[in-house]
This record gives sequence, structure tokens and C-alpha cells, in this order.
Amino acid sequence: MKGTFPIEKFQQLRTPFYYYDTELLRKTLKTIGDEAEKHEGFVVHYAVKANANPNLMRIIRQAGLGADCVSGGEIEAAVKAGFHSQKIVYAGVGKSDWEINLALDQDIFCFNVESIPELQVINELAKQKGKVARVAFRLNPNVGAHTHANITTGLAENKFGIAMRDMFAVIEEAERMENVHFVGLHFHIGSQILDMGDFQALCNRVNELQDQLDARRIRVEHINVGGGLGVDYEHPNHIPIPDFKAYFDTYAKKLKLRPGQTLHFELGRAVVAQCGTLITRTLYIKEGAVKKFAIVDAGFTDLIRPALYQAYHKIENISSEEPKQPYDVVGPICESTDVFAKHFDLNTAHRGDLMAIRTAGAYGEIMASQYNCRQLPKAYMSDELA
Ligand code: LLP
Repeated sequence: MKGTFPIEKFQQLRTPFYYYDTELLRKTLKTIGDEAEKHEGFVVHYAVKANANPNLMRIIRQAGLGADCVSGGEIEAAVKAGFHSQKIVYAGVGKSDWEINLALDQDIFCFNVESIPELQVINELAKQKGKVARVAFRLNPNVGAHTHANITTGLAENKFGIAMRDMFAVIEEAERMENVHFVGLHFHIGSQILDMGDFQALCNRVNELQDQLDARRIRVEHINVGGGLGVDYEHPNHIPIPDFKAYFDTYAKKLKLRPGQTLHFELGRAVVAQCGTLITRTLYIKEGAVKKFAIVDAGFTDLIRPALYQAYHKIENISSEEPKQPYDVVGPICESTDVFAKHFDLNTAHRGDLMAIRTAGAYGEIMASQYNCRQLPKAYMSDELA
């Protein structure tokens, strides 16, 4: 089964480009809303890092999600897309002064702080503005996730967050400061997680930490468990919407919220991955010594995930119904890693055929580069091509 695309319209466009199915995005957002709403105090933010395309961000904001930002640029993008500043959270191990100042000026909901030196700088800069910054501490829960090593973040060896043993020290430090107000705890264990057991492990860890906080009568307004819910890269047509029910139910069942506490999520990939496709044109079919190459006009400058993480993206030849045969699908960039898939079964391909590289809505367009002086890929929404 292949996806359905407006191929006639595509033929008139210069490739490569991203194509976003806004109907699927809206359905996905509706599922998120319906499933999260079943549980009291659940608040969902969109992790802007997954895709900051302004049209997508506007739809996501309209659905009521908040924004999880990791840079000043993302805060600007979120504000521009209309996200209310009280729905913006700001994380990141290396926040620079201008970025902190911007977040202070915008009066964002919360800084997710990752070290004591950072806390001191936020306190200092807030003082200069006569403000009090709301801060949550990102703790490193030392919980592994069954995902690619490059995208697991919650192990003690990773650069992210503050060690659990320092939890009380940082909270006490914040309480001594006048221009920060401690409001929450933040966690994130990794990305593309499909095993609910990993999220359960995080819940258990949060429960232990909350017991320790209770014992010292420290009140926490909110818990933020980050993002990480994965998508089905192999079956974009059969499973276009991730299992948000299982995801939120896991947290509802396993994480013991205290009365009045809210539970925040920062979902990126699960929101936008399936609605995005990279459309590329076949330039040449080359018979190598041992294999056939389909050389396409998209490269890792357009979608870097296969080169960077050996990530799998389903590829469909949407212009051919001829029998399938295996191809190495490669881009034009002068690097051996510029390969989208090896030995991949595609309908027999010819020069000019359009290929759809699926599940590319998250960490695709946003990670594009101009290496080789290539142009950044354009993006089209399904409604504008309808
Ligand atoms: N919150 C924090 C603190 C994060 O670091 C991330 C992702 C998220 C939320 C959103 O995670 P998601 O729901 O999208 O899994 N470029 C890689 C993924 C990097 C993820 C970085 N952090 C990829 O293409 O797989």
C-alpha cells in the first residue's frame, strides 16, 4: 500500500520539497486533545524542534497545545505563530544571555534549568529586569530508553539535566535566590520510544523523587515528563496516528500526581512525523557493478536522518506501478553517507519518477542545511495544492 498524493500537481513543482498533509495533522491533534483531556491536569506542549514550519505551528497552536522551545529562535518562532507566552517552556543545556533575556521579556511560563551556573545567570538577568523567573529543574533520571543511542538522553552519562543526588541542593539554591521561583521538575528520557515500559520506568523514578520531596515538605507545582513517543516508520499508511491513548494512560496509571499538580508533556515527533513527506524526483538510474542505484534530487541536506542515525524511512515510487526491484536510493551530495536506503524494493524506476520519502515531518525540514550550496527545501501544505 502506498500513500495518496496529488501527483499531477507535484509534476509542476520543482523538487525536492516537503509536502504536509494538514488533514492528518489535524486528526492527530484531535486524538492528542481527546486522549489528554481524559486525564485531569494533563498539559501538552509541542516540541518546536521537530518542525518549525510556520503553517504547521499555526495549526498546532490552534489545537491548543503549548510550545516547548530550546532556543531564542524557537521562542521567536512560537511567539510569531501565536503561542501565548504563558504556554511557552524553554529548555536547553546552553542558554545564552540574549536568549534568557528574550524569554524574560516574553514572560514565558517556565525555564527548564539544567545546571546551577545557569540558574545563577537567570537569577542575575531577571534581577536586572526586576522580574522573577519561574524555573523547573531538569533532572537526569538515569532511565535508559530502548531507542537509537544518539537520541537517548536520560542516562547519567548524558550531558542533559542535573544529577538526582543534587535535587535538594538546587532547590535550596533557588529558594535562596530572589529572582527565581521554583515551580517544577522536568525530565526527558529520549526520542522515538515505542515501549511504554520505558515511560513507566520514568514514572517510577518520578514517584520516588516526589516521595523524597514530600518527606521534606517541598511542594512542586508541575511535573514535566518531556516527549519521546515514537511513530511507526515502517507503516505510515496503516498506522498514521501514534498510540496516544496507551501513552497518556501509562502516565495516568503510573505517575502519582499530588493534588493540584499538573503534568506537562513535550511531544515533537509524534505530532508531526507522519504528516510530512519529502518528495524527490529520480534523476538517473545507474547500473553499478553489483547493484542498481536510483539517484534522486534530494540529499541529506534535505533529510539528514538516514545519514546521521541510520534511520529508516519508507520510500515509495509514486509514479510507477511496474514490478518491484531493489535499489539503493541515493542523493547527489558528494559524500558516501548520502544514502536514503539500501537494497530497497521499489516499483521499477525511471528518470523523472517521483519518490515519496515518508514519515519525514519530524526532524526533516528543520534539520536541512545548505551544504554544497544547495537551496533549502520548499514546503507545501496539502490544502494549498488541493
Ligand atoms: N523535550 C526535550 C527536552 C527534548 O530534548 C526533546 C527532543 C523533546 C522534548 C521532543 O522529543 P520527541 O517527542 O520529538 O521525541 N533529531 C532526532 C531527534 C532528537 C530529539 C531531541 N530532543 C531524530 O531525528 O530522531
